[in-house]
Amino acid sequence: MEPAAEQNNAKQYQRFTRLNRLLHVVMIVCFLSLASTGMTLKFAYTSWAVFLSHLFGGFESAGYIHRVAAATMIILFITHITDLVRRKRREYGTWRAMLTGPDSMVFNKKDLQDLLGNFKWFIGKGPRPDYGRWTYWEKFDYFAVFWGMMVIGSTGLMLWFPVFFTLFFPGWLINVATIIHSDEALLATGFIFTVHFFNTHFRPEKFPMDLVVFTGRMTLEEFKEDKPLEYEALVNAGELEKHMVDPYPEIVVRVIRIFGWTALAIGTSMVILIIYAMVFAYQ
Ligand code: HEM
Repeated sequence: MEPAAEQNNAKQYQRFTRLNRLLHVVMIVCFLSLASTGMTLKFAYTSWAVFLSHLFGGFESAGYIHRVAAATMIILFITHITDLVRRKRREYGTWRAMLTGPDSMVFNKKDLQDLLGNFKWFIGKGPRPDYGRWTYWEKFDYFAVFWGMMVIGSTGLMLWFPVFFTLFFPGWLINVATIIHSDEALLATGFIFTVHFFNTHFRPEKFPMDLVVFTGRMTLEEFKEDKPLEYEALVNAGELEKHMVDPYPEIVVRVIRIFGWTALAIGTSMVILIIYAMVFAYQ
């Protein structure tokens, strides 16, 4: 076999399960829907919001799309938590073992060392830190969704069911919830479409796009380079083979790439439209 063909057929390391990948795709679709319909409501006085509102079938139906995407996002969040509980039972036994183990998403001392090490690496004063399963910025992005669900999700539910919530809370809290929901949503949209996009796709090692969260797999070379500690641990435990799978056919990767580019393009356009609204049309 030609060396290039051999390379194409070589087994790859499976980083994400099928459920992980499905949840990420659904989350992207929900988040893009929430952010685009939400920003259309927030910046309703701009010409681009009027244009988008026509695409959504009017401002009222943009609100309906927003609620459907919000309900789907809440179901998705509950599905992820249920999956975590199941994995805890199946693979770790106790929460302590799961949350303090080397593959945990929870921040630990090594993340702080990696953060400092990375800054040194940026200015050429040290080597790139050896990362394990999750880098500190991946952990940060992960917990941003928990924070978002608490702050944006809870205030969104107050806006959705104001009569119910004012049975227990004073009416002015709905006004406060509107401000928090709106401004936190702006922050989340700005963060995801700039910092998260840069960390994941635009940094030099991954530019222009990292497909691993969709395909679930990466080449062995990339794995060794990206997560050397996780690689070492699997080799030492004799478990690497268990995680090696066939790559997807090129046509599947192509479809995935189109989806990825579409999401990146919508997200990046949204940031530009928000900056335009805030700089030139703010009311
Ligand atoms: C996940 C749970 C969420 C729920 C339950 C929810 C619910 C709502 C509701 C009921 C409204 C009022 C809509 C109307 O008046 O027709 C609203 C407005 C809005 N939402 Fe959400 N939402 C959620 C998530 C998000 C997310 C993730 C974003 C953006 C990233 C977002 C951005 C906005 C914005 C910008 C507004 C307009 C606020 C304003 O008028 O200034 N929402 N949301």
